[in-house]
Amino acid sequence: TIVRLADYRPSDYLIDRVDLDVRLHPTETRVTATLALRPNPAGEPGAPLVLDGDELTLLAIALDGQPTGPGAIAVTPRALTLHQPPQRPFVLEIETQVNPSANTKLMGLYRSNGVYCTQCEADGFRRITYFLDRPDVMAVYTTRIEAERHEAPVLLGNGNPVAAGELGLTRHYAVWHDPHPKPAYLFALVGGRLGRVGSRFTTMEGRSVEVAVYVEPGKEGRADFALDAVARSMAWDERTFGRAYDLDVFNVVAVSDFNMGAMENKGLNIFNDKYVLASPDTATDADYANIEAIIAHEYFHNWSGNRVTCRDWFQLCLKEGLTVFRDQEFSSDERSRPVHRIAEVRTLRARQFPEDAGPLAHPVRPQAYREINNFYTATVYEKGAEIVRMLRTLLGPETFRRGMDRYFAICDGTAATVEDFLAAFAAESGRDLTAFSRWYEQAGTPTVAVSGRHDAAARTYTLTFRQSLPVIATEAAAGAAPRPLVIPVVLGLVAPGGGPVEAVSERVRDGVFVLETAEDTLVFTGVTAPPVPSLFRGFSAPVKVEHALTRDERLTLLAHDGDAFNRWQAAQSLAMEVLVGRARAGAPLGPGAGPEGEALTRALATFLDGEALADPAFAALVLTLPGEQEIAQAIGAEVDPDAIWRARQTLRVQLGRDLGPRLLALRDALAEAPGAPFSPDAASAGRRALRNAALDLVTAADPETGTALAVAQLDSAVTMTDRLAALATVSLVPGEAREAALTRFGEASRHEPLVLDKWFALQAMIPEPGTLDRVRGLMRHPAFSLGNPNRVRSLIASFSLNNPTQFHRPDGAGYDLTAEVVLALDGKNPQVAARLLTAFNTWRMVEDGRRRQAESALRRVAETPGLSPDVSDIAGRSLAPV
Ligand code: ARG
Ligand code: ZN
Repeated sequence: TIVRLADYRPSDYLIDRVDLDVRLHPTETRVTATLALRPNPAGEPGAPLVLDGDELTLLAIALDGQPTGPGAIAVTPRALTLHQPPQRPFVLEIETQVNPSANTKLMGLYRSNGVYCTQCEADGFRRITYFLDRPDVMAVYTTRIEAERHEAPVLLGNGNPVAAGELGLTRHYAVWHDPHPKPAYLFALVGGRLGRVGSRFTTMEGRSVEVAVYVEPGKEGRADFALDAVARSMAWDERTFGRAYDLDVFNVVAVSDFNMGAMENKGLNIFNDKYVLASPDTATDADYANIEAIIAHEYFHNWSGNRVTCRDWFQLCLKEGLTVFRDQEFSSDERSRPVHRIAEVRTLRARQFPEDAGPLAHPVRPQAYREINNFYTATVYEKGAEIVRMLRTLLGPETFRRGMDRYFAICDGTAATVEDFLAAFAAESGRDLTAFSRWYEQAGTPTVAVSGRHDAAARTYTLTFRQSLPVIATEAAAGAAPRPLVIPVVLGLVAPGGGPVEAVSERVRDGVFVLETAEDTLVFTGVTAPPVPSLFRGFSAPVKVEHALTRDERLTLLAHDGDAFNRWQAAQSLAMEVLVGRARAGAPLGPGAGPEGEALTRALATFLDGEALADPAFAALVLTLPGEQEIAQAIGAEVDPDAIWRARQTLRVQLGRDLGPRLLALRDALAEAPGAPFSPDAASAGRRALRNAALDLVTAADPETGTALAVAQLDSAVTMTDRLAALATVSLVPGEAREAALTRFGEASRHEPLVLDKWFALQAMIPEPGTLDRVRGLMRHPAFSLGNPNRVRSLIASFSLNNPTQFHRPDGAGYDLTAEVVLALDGKNPQVAARLLTAFNTWRMVEDGRRRQAESALRRVAETPGLSPDVSDIAGRSLAPV
C-alpha cells in the first residue's frame, strides 16, 4: 500500500496517557498497556478505532475496566479494531505477548547480546503493543519494567526514574515517568547487565542532570569519550541555540545489534555500540569524530525532533535535516570548520548525488512511500541539512537564529510540518519563502552553469548564471517541468596574482548573490583586470557547477583563494579533469597522467612546501583524489568502473612518484614523539591523516618501499588509526606481505568485533578479482553473522557499495553475491537487506554489458516470492521504467 502526503488526515482518536507494564522474559514478554483515549475534535465523529499492531498476540482487553462485548472488537496480529468506541474519554487496557529473542528484525523489543532493548522509529512501537502508531498522537508515558534481577539488573526507561524495588527473591522492577508528551516512536526501554560511566551536568537553567553511558560490562573505559561528548553537546546547544536539557537524567545505551547508527528516544538514547565505544587501540580518529557527531546528533534531537516532532513521516527531514545541520555545526565548532565542511561535501557527493541521479531519487520531503524505513536516506538527511544551511546563508546568522528561536517557541510540544518551520523564518525575516520551499519538493541535483566576461574598457566583470534541474518523474510532479530554485551563491573575485579584487555589485550582499531565476547576470564594476571568480564558497548550495575555468585559473584559486573550501575544490577539479578524461578514453594504467598530471603535481608540491605543516588535516584532503563514485557521477553514462580505477591509480602513482621525497619528509616531520600521550583531537588526527595519506601515495608509486614502511608502521603503531592505515596500504599490494599482515591483524583482533569489522571491510574493498572469493570465505569466518547489521555492513556492504570494480565485475558475479545476500537476509532483517540492495542504485549508469548483468540480478530479487515490503519497494523502484 502507498501512503501519500496529500492524503494526510488527523487521527480520529487521541491518546493522552499511556501506562505500560512490561514483564521482561526472553521469549514470553508480557506487556499491559493502559491507554487513556478520547475522540479527536479534529477527527471524524463515531469512526471506528483502529490500533496498529505487527506480529502481536492479544492476551486480554478491557474497555473502562469491563470486558469488551461479543463482536465489539476485531483482532489480527496487525490491527485491533474497536467498532464503536465511546464518544467521550475512555480507557483501554490491552495485554499482549511478544518474543524478544525471536525478533531478528531489530524493530520493537528485541535482545542484543542478552540485553533487552527497543527500536520504535519509524513504526516499531506497534510490535510491542496495539497503538495509534503515528507521530501526531502524543502521550505522557509511565513505564513499569519488571525482570529477573540476574538477567537484567539495569532497567531503564524514558524520562525520570520514579520508583524501584524488589519482588520476591529474584525479581525486581523500576518505574519511569516521562512528563513530556511524545509520539510512540520515541518510546524506549532497556533491561540488562550493563556497565556504567556517569557524570553530572548543570544546565543554564540550573537543572542538575545525571548523565550516564551504559555499555557491555568491562568496556566502561571505552565509554568516557562518549560521556564527555554528551556534556560538550549539552553545553554547545545552550551556547549556540539557547536550548537546555529538560529531564533529571540523560542516558545513553550501547548495543551490538542495531539497524542504524543510533536513536534519540526521549532521555534514553540507544546507540549502535560502534558509535559509542572508543579507545586508542580499537578506534580510529574517524571513529572518534563519528562518535562525537552522532552523540551530538541524538542529543540535539531532544529539541529538533522530540520537543518539536513531526506531524507525519513525510516531514522526516524536518527533524533529520535540521539535526544533521546542527551536528555539522557542532563538529565544525569543536574541530576545524573548513576540514569538516569538506568532509560533509564529500559525503554528499559520494552518497546523495548518486541517489538523486538514480532510480531511487526522491524529494527531501517525499510525496509518497510504500515503506517509510527506506526513506532514511542521504537525501532526507544530508540534502535536508543543506537546505537549512542555505536558509541561514540567505537570512544571515542573526535572523536565522531568531527564526530558530521562534520555531522552537511556536512549535514546542507539537507535531509540526516543513511549512511550520519555514513560517517561523518567514515571519522573523519578513521574507516570502515560497520559492525557497521548492528545495523540499523537487528531486534531483540542480546544475548551475556559469560563465564570466571581463570588459576592460567598461571595467566591468559580468557573470552569467543558468540553472537547470533534471526532470524526475515523481508521482506528485509527473511530467511537470521543475521550477527555478532559490540558490545562494557565496562568491568573491580573486586577482590573477592572488589577493581579493575590490569590486562592487549591488546584487551581492555580505558576499552572497541569490540566483532565483532560470538565468541571471551579475555585473561587477570597477574591475580593471580579468579576475578569477571563486563561486559557491563553502559549497553554499548542493548543486553541480559547470564553469569553464582554465587550468591556470584553477591553479590560482588553489594557491590564493581566501576560501579554504574552494582551494580544495580547485585541486579536486584539476584532478577530476584528468581522471574523467582518462576514464572516458578507457586509458590503460600508465606511469603518469601526462602534462595535466604534471601541472597538478607541481601545484601540489608548491602547496605542500608552503603550508602542509601548518594545517596537515587540510593538506591530507587536498592530496586525496576524488573517489571512484564521484568520478562515475562526473562521467554520467556508459561508465566503466575499471577504467575509472585505472585513471585514479595512474594519477596516484604519479603523485606518489613526483611528490615522493616531500611526502616522506612530511611523514618524518609529523612523526609522533615516542611516548607522547594519545589525543583524539582534530589537530593530532590531522597529523596522522597527512602522514598516512603520504604513506599511501608513496606506496602507490613504489609498492616495495611503501610496503616495508607500512609493515614497520603496523608493528610499531600505538593507535588504531595508524595500524589500520598501514594495513589498508599493505592490502592494496598483492603478495605474501599482505596476506601475513592480514592474518596477524585478524588474529590479534579475534575478540574485538568492532575491530574485526574494520578488517572485514578492508578486505572487502580490495580492488582485485580475488576479492569475491575472499568475501565468500570471510562469510564463513566464526565472527561473521548475517544476524548482526554491523557485520553485514562491514563485509557485504563494503563490497557492494564501496568496491566499484568488484561489485561491477563484468561477469556479474559481484551483483550475484549481493543479490544472494539480500535474499538470504530478507527473511531475518528486511531493513538491512533493503539497504544493501540500494547498491544497485547506479545500475543504469554502467556500460551495456554490466548493465544487463545488474538488471538480471535485480530482476531475480524482484521476482522472488514472499519478499518483505522493504526489499520489494527498493527492487521495484530500482527497476521502474524511466
Ligand atoms: N532517528 C534516528 C536518527 O537519529 C534514525 C532511526 C532510524 N531507524 C529506522 N529504523 N528507520 O537519525
Ligand atoms: Zn536523526
